[in-house]
Amino acid sequence: MSSKANPPQPVATAPRRAQIAVLDSTMSYVEAGASGPTVLFLHGNPTSSHIWRDIIPHVAPFGRCIAPDLIGYGQSGKPDIDYRFFDHVRYLDAFLDALDISDVVLVAQDWGTALAFHLAARRPQRILGLAFMEFIRPFERWEDFHQRPQAREMFKALRTAGVGEKLVLEDNVFVEKVLPASVLRTMSDKEMDAYRAPFPTPQSRKPALRLPREMPIENQPADVAAISAHDHRSLRLSPYPKLLFAGDPGALIGPQAAKEFAAGLKNCGFINLGPGAHYLQEDHADAIGSAIASWLPEVVLASRTGELA
Ligand code: BEZ
Repeated sequence: MSSKANPPQPVATAPRRAQIAVLDSTMSYVEAGASGPTVLFLHGNPTSSHIWRDIIPHVAPFGRCIAPDLIGYGQSGKPDIDYRFFDHVRYLDAFLDALDISDVVLVAQDWGTALAFHLAARRPQRILGLAFMEFIRPFERWEDFHQRPQAREMFKALRTAGVGEKLVLEDNVFVEKVLPASVLRTMSDKEMDAYRAPFPTPQSRKPALRLPREMPIENQPADVAAISAHDHRSLRLSPYPKLLFAGDPGALIGPQAAKEFAAGLKNCGFINLGPGAHYLQEDHADAIGSAIASWLPEVVLASRTGELA
């Protein structure tokens, strides 16, 4: 029989969890798939690689999927650091070096997008493509931040000294309240337990308190706002294929604004997933996974065309 009649089928290796030494700690990650481009999945606060669990199986037949738990999150170590955005940059850079990852397709949500944009701004030639959703950007005024006024008030409280400590370190509200309030379906106890597990003690919740305080709103903190503005300027100039997902009403961005944002970028597709809030992966895993799987050949082709140019 000719090979044309029986073309080789993509093979996916089942997801497996691994650990690697990174700086003074360890980082845990999920790896799946064997051949094709490396697809790096970057989660946000207060989730982990777990949030990609139903998306990775769609993508694994077409790429080598790597989904780290950011430092302080999931099953990664919890070194005694400040958990500022720049700490995450340091640990993620060292993680990529440790795994010898250079050319990547990025898939990111929430703080994962800030890390993805910063990586892309520093290593533009290494970025094959970027799929993203519910992304971080400098919010000029508090009124621009978040679709829901109650969420804005919650973030103001989280950023208030003493109040945020009580809410996140003592009461674990980021996991118990913010997370389920930003998923439209009701997550089961088992699903919630997977997100609770990394944060059993007040000390372990430090990373989940720091990131809302890093959100660049009204130019505070100034260093994160400056980097985010710089990374967005790079994003607007970047040629690699992009794919932006949005939900309705969304949390950090709604579908109409997201569509306009995508139109302002070079080579950026847009997918409106329908009803959704912030953790779109929990409401639309299959739609996100299959869209990324269908988009990957375009990404690979664009990178080859770039090589020839
Ligand atoms: C955040 O962590 O960035 C976030 C969480 C829930 C809703 C909006 C933003």
